[in-house]
Amino acid sequence: MAVKAYDLTGRTAFVTGAASGIGRASALLLAEAGATVHCADRDARKLHETAALIKAAGGEAHAHELDVADKEQIDRAVAQAAAAATTTGTGTGRGTGTGTGTGRLDIMAAIAGIMHNSPVLETREKDLDRVLDINFKGVLYACQAAARAMIEAGRGGSIITMASGAVDTGGPGLLCYGASKAAVVQLTKTLATEVGPHAIRVNAVAPGWIRTPMTERHDSQAQAHTEGVMTRMSPLGRVGDPDDIAHAVLHLASDASSFTTGQILRPNGGVAMPW
Ligand code: NAI
Repeated sequence: MAVKAYDLTGRTAFVTGAASGIGRASALLLAEAGATVHCADRDARKLHETAALIKAAGGEAHAHELDVADKEQIDRAVAQAAAAATTTGTGTGRGTGTGTGTGRLDIMAAIAGIMHNSPVLETREKDLDRVLDINFKGVLYACQAAARAMIEAGRGGSIITMASGAVDTGGPGLLCYGASKAAVVQLTKTLATEVGPHAIRVNAVAPGWIRTPMTERHDSQAQAHTEGVMTRMSPLGRVGDPDDIAHAVLHLASDASSFTTGQILRPNGGVAMPW
């Protein structure tokens, strides 16, 4: 690793949504940087594919098939991941050092999420519940489990949540999705203030339009239209790809961002430029 601050050798990472798109790209990159990566997703086939890709590239990966909206499943998998980890890695060097040394978790990237589109007047309670269960509560449970494991180990850590450019721009049909991502931003800022004294950093990534299976699920005409609009709006003149976001995740996961917490990083091609 050319730049030491990005070296994750000896660190343990847990990545939700690791079967596809941004989550898969992030899991692969964290592994490439040296982390042991625990991949979690509900799509068993693609989840094991991600773990196999990491191993084929010489990395270390474990697969956890789970539903992030199920708190017990997340708690169990994160506890397993922390317990399985050795304590010989470098850590952030900024923790309290009072942990028991029985396990460790250094990085949580809570990326799993779903899209939902419906006009406000046609939004049903069950749509709102489903989106909040996965996009907000799923991230909350992952953050809680990770923060507990990190506090217990006493070595600090980095928690990364996945928000969206939707929190800056809004748009027709985005009520459920945008509300869930706004809640993720609030969770990120609140948790950052609460766990900072344990040397745990908490930051959100708010991507612009990224070409992934999620965005490709739109019908092709609608997708081409949206990509055309996003491309025109971006000063860089393009939409993003999963690696654009994985590099933002790596930055926040690593010591390169050691003084960054409670922030929203916006790899969005310049489509929105809030203060
Ligand atoms: P994707 O659909 O390619 O990947 C999402 C992954 O999450 C899938 O593997 C899916 O199986 C998993 N997942 C969904 N619900 C789950 C559940 N209940 N339990 C376990 N796993 C579950 O989507 P993409 O684009 O990679 O999105 C990843 C994250 O990035 C999401 O949180 C999304 O909201 C966010 N995002 C994506 C943008 C884009 O333009 N693609 C823009 C802004 C944010």
